Amino acid sequence: MTATDDFQDYGNEQEAGEGVARAIKDGLVKREELFIVSKLWNSFHDYDRVKPICKKQLKDWGVDYFDLYIVHFPVALKYVDPSVRYPPSWTDENDKITQSKAPLSETWKAMEELYEEGLAKSIGISNYSGQSVMDLQRYAKQLPQTLQIEHHPYLTQEPLVGLAKSLGIVITAYSSFGPISYHELEMEKAKNTPLLFEHDVVKKVAEKHSKSPAQVLLRWSTQRGVAVIPKSNNQQRLAANLDVCSFDLSEDEIKSISALDQGLRFNNPTNVSSPISTTHGNKSLTTFQYGLPLPIFA
Ligand SMILES: NC(=O)c1ccc[n+]([C@@H]2O[C@H](COP(=O)([O-])OP(=O)(O)OC[C@H]3O[C@@H](n4cnc5c(N)ncnc54)[C@H](OP(=O)(O)O)[C@@H]3O)[C@@H](O)[C@H]2O)c1
Repeated sequence: MTATDDFQDYGNEQEAGEGVARAIKDGLVKREELFIVSKLWNSFHDYDRVKPICKKQLKDWGVDYFDLYIVHFPVALKYVDPSVRYPPSWTDENDKITQSKAPLSETWKAMEELYEEGLAKSIGISNYSGQSVMDLQRYAKQLPQTLQIEHHPYLTQEPLVGLAKSLGIVITAYSSFGPISYHELEMEKAKNTPLLFEHDVVKKVAEKHSKSPAQVLLRWSTQRGVAVIPKSNNQQRLAANLDVCSFDLSEDEIKSISALDQGLRFNNPTNVSSPISTTHGNKSLTTFQYGLPLPIFA
C-alpha cells in the first residue's frame, strides 16, 4: 500500500491527483492500493464549511473518497472563500489572523458526517493536546482513528502517546527527524538545535545495526507504537525510509534515544507575530501579540 499525506495548506492537491490518475491509467497502481490522506484547514472549521471543502479537495484529487481526513489544527480561523484565495493560509484578507467562533465539537460533528457518508474512510486529528483529546471524548460519537503530532527524540510526548494508546487512537509522527524539516523554513530554533542525524547516541545505535541514523529514528518510533510518514525528495532515501522493519532496537537502545527528550517543539500555532482578532458576543476583540516569527506549517 502506498500512502500519501497531502493537504490543502500546500495547495498541491490537483497536481498530486494528476499523478495518481496517471499512475492508475498506466496500470502502476489501483486506487484501493493507495492510502490518500488530506486535511481540513483551519479556515473551514465552521460546521457548514466542512463538507463543501472536503468535496472540493476530493474533486481536486480526482477521487471520490479519502482514506483518512484529518483536522489539521485545533484552531478555527475565519472562513476564506476558495474563489477569493485558495489555499487560504493563516491570514485573512486584511493580513490578520482572525479566529472563527466554531468550537471543535462542531467541526468534529461535521467530520463524523463525512465518515458516515463514506467521503472519508477514516477521520483523525492533528496537533491536539491531551486536554483537547479528553475534551473530544466528551462529545465524539466516533473517536479519531489517528492523532498526528510532532514526535521525535527531542519531543517524545510520553503522556499524550500513552493517552492515545489507552483510547485506541493511533499516533502518527511528523517531523520524525527533529529539526531538519524546519531548516527549509529558515527557523532559527531548528538551526540552533544539533541534528539528530549527527547525535552520538543515534549514530552509535545506527553503526551497531549497520543502518542510517534516519532509519534508526524511524524504527525507534515504530517500536514505540508510533506510525511514521517521513517525506523525501530523494528516491533512495524514500526507499531507505521504507526499509525500517528489518531490524529491531533493544529496549536499552530505545531508552537511550528516548532519554534525549527535551520537550523541544518546533511547530507551535500560538507562536504568531501577527495580531489575532476574535469576537466575543457582539464585541470584536483584538490582539494578542506573541512577537515571535510565524512558522509556516506544512
Ligand atoms: N500535521 C501537521 O501539522 C504536519 C506538520 C509537518 C509535517 N506534516 C506531514 O508529515 C510528513 C513528513 O513531513 P515532515 O515535514 O515531518 O518532514 P520529515 O519527514 O520529518 O523530514 C523531511 C526532511 O528530512 C530529509 N530526509 C528524509 N529522509 C531522509 C533520510 N533517510 N536521510 C536523511 N534525510 C532525510 C528530507 O530531505 P530530502 O528531501 O532531501 O531527503 C527533508 O529535509 C508530511 O506528509 C507532512 O505533510 C504534518
